[in-house]
Amino acid sequence: MRADWSRSLLFITSIGTVALLADAALDGWRPFPLAAAALFLAVGLIAAATRKARKAETPIAVASGPASSLPPAARNVLEALHEPLILLDGSGRVMLANVSAAAIVGPDPERKHISAVLRTPELLEAIERVLAGGEAEDVGFSFVVPLERHYRAYVVATKMREGAPLLVVQLHDLTAIRRAEEMRVDFIANASHELRTPLAAVSGFIDTLRGHAKDDATARERFLGIMAVEAARMRRLIDDLLSLTRIELNEHNPPSGTVDLRQIVRDAAAALSPLAQADSITIRTEGDTPLRVTGDRDELIQVFQNLIHNAIKYGHEGSTVTIRFGTLPPARRGGPEQVFAAVQDEGDGLAREIIPRLTERFYRVDVKRSRERGGTGLGLAIVKHILNRHHGRLQIESTLGVGSIFTVHLPAAVEASAMDPGVTKMS
Ligand SMILES: Nc1ncnc2c1ncn2[C@@H]1O[C@H](COP(=O)(O)OP(=O)(O)OP(=O)(O)O)[C@@H](O)[C@H]1O
Ligand SMILES: [Mg+2]
Repeated sequence: MRADWSRSLLFITSIGTVALLADAALDGWRPFPLAAAALFLAVGLIAAATRKARKAETPIAVASGPASSLPPAARNVLEALHEPLILLDGSGRVMLANVSAAAIVGPDPERKHISAVLRTPELLEAIERVLAGGEAEDVGFSFVVPLERHYRAYVVATKMREGAPLLVVQLHDLTAIRRAEEMRVDFIANASHELRTPLAAVSGFIDTLRGHAKDDATARERFLGIMAVEAARMRRLIDDLLSLTRIELNEHNPPSGTVDLRQIVRDAAAALSPLAQADSITIRTEGDTPLRVTGDRDELIQVFQNLIHNAIKYGHEGSTVTIRFGTLPPARRGGPEQVFAAVQDEGDGLAREIIPRLTERFYRVDVKRSRERGGTGLGLAIVKHILNRHHGRLQIESTLGVGSIFTVHLPAAVEASAMDPGVTKMS
């Protein structure tokens, strides 16, 4: 806007000078129009000189200049954004890629052309179209290596203050959302499949009992027995699913009660002793002094029933299940002491590579063996979520052919007697 007054003045003085010179010439070069023309010419020359000087002062167009031409404050704000962001100039060169964008364009991308630092054709093509004057675009793309990641990019053209083109590539990391969605789909597929199998068996036996086995009392008794087992399996699955949902909903709300871990393990083992006896398995718990932890009694009983039940199910006939206890220093400075209980069996053991998968819902090493023993594949997933709620953890060690040790770590309860009543607790 400021540059325009000199242009207008230059225009007016040029016209004025020409008109006055013409007038002076027609009038026999009278002194007044001649002097006025000279004055207009002088003003015009000053306007032209000012305009030239102003032009010389104007900086090089920002978008085609170096990346540092972004104002430092704007650069700092964009660098601090958590979401990845890339700015390109009108020729597709990177002006800025913030720290979060480094995973996509690598280190030091600035001043390089975007095609030299980005290897995703979908996004490069969208950038090309928008650079060529196309509408803003929303495009999805994924990386498979080194880790699978999914992004959505919003590419839009805008202008710098001086009018130079600027391309904004805003990225959203969708990896966590995609994983959660995949887990939800898998979960529904697995749960439906687990329910469909016993349901198909029950429906089949109902048809048989209505048909050719109608008057066969022996077959009826046998089929009703199988139907009862399958119905019990469905009930257990629904109970486990509801239990898992309830624990997950409550996970952010840690328990506040104090319980004796040794007593909990003894109660869980006692409830399972008929099963152990049926397989001639001995359950041995070491020590008897109370070990106090902060926890929810019912949930911790569920944890140890799952672990001891697994030790019996996947142990060998006539073997021993041993449960050891102990304490460890705090997991973090100033935190509570840790208490542990380790359930050791003498079963087949587990291969090292499958250990991280054991707490996944419905994961079973041997589906047939688990199903035969009435397993739903949810036991260790429930254990994991209960321990998350207790700020505890599950450690799994195993040796093929020797057996496994499932160790539960929990924060020890802060004993009332351990706190000096005269000291006010600071938080
Ligand atoms: N002590 C163990 N020894 C060997 N394998 C084990 C042991 N505990 C668990 N596993 C393996 O881990 C899988 C998952 O265990 P999890 O307790 O989650 O399910 P499950 O025992 O099959 O069924 P559920 O616990 O619902 O009755 C089991 O199917 C089994 O293959
Ligand atoms: Mg189990």
